[in-house]
Amino acid sequence: MAMGGELRKVLVVGGGGREDALGWALSRSTQAATGGVELWFYPGNAGTLRWGRNLTRDELASFSAAGEESERLTAWAVHQGIDLAVIGPEAYLAAGLADRLRAVGVGVVGPGRAGAQIESSKAWAKKFMTRHGIPTARYRTFTRTELAKAREFVKSLRTPPVIKADGLAGGKGVTVTESTDEALQVLEELFVRNALGEAGNCLVIEERMTGREVSLLVLTDGHTLAILPEAQDHKRIGEGDTGPNTGGMGAYSPVPFFSDPVREEVIHRILLPTLRGLAAEGIAYRGVIYAGLMLTADGPKVVEFNCRFGDPETQVILPRLEMDWLALFSAVAKGNLDGYLQSCSQARRLFPAGTGGSRVPAVWQLVPQVGAALAVVIASEGYPGSYQTGFPVEGLAALCELQQVYLFHAGTRVGSAGRVLTAGGRVLNLVGVGESLAEARARAYEAVARVRFANQYYRRDIGYQVCSQPSGTLVARRGS
Ligand code: AMP
Ligand code: GLY
Repeated sequence: MAMGGELRKVLVVGGGGREDALGWALSRSTQAATGGVELWFYPGNAGTLRWGRNLTRDELASFSAAGEESERLTAWAVHQGIDLAVIGPEAYLAAGLADRLRAVGVGVVGPGRAGAQIESSKAWAKKFMTRHGIPTARYRTFTRTELAKAREFVKSLRTPPVIKADGLAGGKGVTVTESTDEALQVLEELFVRNALGEAGNCLVIEERMTGREVSLLVLTDGHTLAILPEAQDHKRIGEGDTGPNTGGMGAYSPVPFFSDPVREEVIHRILLPTLRGLAAEGIAYRGVIYAGLMLTADGPKVVEFNCRFGDPETQVILPRLEMDWLALFSAVAKGNLDGYLQSCSQARRLFPAGTGGSRVPAVWQLVPQVGAALAVVIASEGYPGSYQTGFPVEGLAALCELQQVYLFHAGTRVGSAGRVLTAGGRVLNLVGVGESLAEARARAYEAVARVRFANQYYRRDIGYQVCSQPSGTLVARRGS
């Protein structure tokens, strides 16, 4: 890895709103401000070109046509002299990109294949939680050959269960069933009709929990935890949290019902046992642990773990923290997180109270300087099903007039004459910040109203559970 003073070459892997936000954050680092950083994105989007250069899929294919994508990207990183990589999407982590990059000396924010199992295999994650006493819903797992047993189990339950495909299923792998009949139907679809392919080779059938949800993300180098501000996303496509699940149609931070005592309980009952569990199993984990939590009557429980930053949670977490993200990520990648945080004014040590010893995991809270942030995702009409792309996006230049608003691109590309065109399901994120969520929300929607493309769709009610202010004055625009 490059030492201080040298040009740092940083690769952000992914091309969504999360990666654009990561690029923005990295470009504000002290070293970037002095021209000491070259940022690359693979494959990036029209927005990431504001912070650096994109390596397109075609360019990677012409650099090297042989081998898996992660192999080719690793070869390119060596050729280019990349010294730090931040990996966004779970599929790359599950495929072992972090292992490959580390093996050739690149520092990485993101776990290797073994650590990525906390997300890539729900059955593995549940067993891991059981082994380490981490609170989560009661469950059983079944493989494809056990259809009859799975049916019997579903019929024996007093309440309809949640059924989860074991493997990565792009957000489509979880069904919260409403009746035994529906649960039996889901079994049929996954095991017999093979609706999710290999991801459905094994199923987790678990009890349905009730409570409010919150996401708590931490950065870790395997020894130390840096707790990021909590966030909440809106997964459903429709207003009032209705309709199919998506990657996320909006998010906000903070989450007012997530109190300090509950955070402490999460740290002690969930995060520290997770960190210790990973270490005990010989998994060196450097990256993000994303705990999707439900605050039940019996205390906080894990709904799911992700092995990466959330999208769009990242778009509201990063703008709240005025950190030197490059320095922080470098510390994670080098395994020196505790050392770095000792000299970081935005970090407050939560645990242990004293200096601890090198064997005691340290827990730090990254203290936000910005009160609140709220992100609205503008998507292509039809998403999460099929949708058209290639429409010009108008009104982006006018966003510069707005204060305390950030624009993060997701599915966009640059067309002829430098026009920004839509290129995906989720197209743009407009993020408002402010003292309060209501202020952040008003700013985000003011920005949304200035942007326009032919088949746009967005939810008008992001943050409705936590903002008392009505959104009735906001006019959602579908199509044109
Ligand atoms: P996951 O992909 O595991 O986060 O699941 C997607 C969504 O399904 C979660 O955000 C929850 O709203 C819901 N969900 C998952 N597991 C459960 C559960 N055991 N009880 C209730 N809701 C759940
Ligand atoms: N927004 C949910 C996720 O990133 O998994």
